[in-house]
Amino acid sequence: MENSIREIREKALAGLAEVRDTAGLEQLRVNILGKKGELTGILRGMGQLPADKRPAMGQLVNEARAAIEEALERRLSELRAREKDARLKAEAIDVTLPVEKRTMGAVHPVFSCMEEMIDIFVGMGYEVVEGPEVEFDHYNFELLNLPKNHPARDAQDTFYVDDNIVLRTHTSPVQARIMTTRRPPIRVICPGRVYRADEADATHSPVFHQMEGLVIDEGVTMGDLKGTLDQFAARLFGEGVSTRFRPSYFPFTEPSAEVDIPCANCKGAGCRMCKGTGFIEVLGSGMVNPKVLDMCGIDSRRYSGFAFGMGIERMALLKYNIPGLRLMYENDLRFLSQFR
Ligand code: DAH
Repeated sequence: MENSIREIREKALAGLAEVRDTAGLEQLRVNILGKKGELTGILRGMGQLPADKRPAMGQLVNEARAAIEEALERRLSELRAREKDARLKAEAIDVTLPVEKRTMGAVHPVFSCMEEMIDIFVGMGYEVVEGPEVEFDHYNFELLNLPKNHPARDAQDTFYVDDNIVLRTHTSPVQARIMTTRRPPIRVICPGRVYRADEADATHSPVFHQMEGLVIDEGVTMGDLKGTLDQFAARLFGEGVSTRFRPSYFPFTEPSAEVDIPCANCKGAGCRMCKGTGFIEVLGSGMVNPKVLDMCGIDSRRYSGFAFGMGIERMALLKYNIPGLRLMYENDLRFLSQFR
């Protein structure tokens, strides 16, 4: 019996060294120390021993059991640690893996410029109003003193939907809509998209943006127009930027003026960008033609007003010093992402 106890003990210890995982270890434990285990079997057989041999043999079995249990315990924590390591390794996330890039969008320069222009006029007490892009000839031309066959109609290559409907060629029809539906005092700006049947090139696009301004009240003068646009230019392009008014012609204003600002490229000295003039034209303006006021139902003997219209792309090109209109429409990310 002594021998088989020793054998069981040695076999158990040798087996422990060989098991590879906790499940194998548990199996081993059951085989030796379990209810039907080998050592348990020995313990059961002790009943057959003579009484005087039992204590010594019992001690031997207990020693073997204690040694095996201790070794089992040690091996168990070894295997548990190893299994935990393996699990952690398997679950590990490689934080150095390249991720799918999520790029942030940016406001397009035309729109950020437009928003700034709107802010400036809202700060001066203007209200923002919008009108339809598909417009009646009546508002786009007739009410603006551009009757059918008027030669100035040719200056704007128009997309016609039918005889009476066009894609608006400017934001000025919103003026006409306001004047026919509201009474003075009127102080509005009308930003929006406009269309002309132009071939796209460095200075033209069939779709672009304008912002219209209209002020009507008693006693409004050209001085108010000039003061307003001076203030606007200084706010948009920087303190010290002054405007130059040049006589011009628009059917809907009388008198009319085109407004220039000094060329930012040559600071007024004259260069290729300003064609040697030292100035860049930025907008059209004037005193609302009394004929237009009357056609829209506003008494021109009592009220006067000024109006202006400007291209937003043109303003953005000048403000951000962008070297050409095409960049505005090509949606090249290398260009657009510079405005983030
Ligand atoms: N509508 C003109 C254009 O598209 C710009 C313009 C000029 C608007 C004079 C105005 C104005 O309101 O008074 O070329």
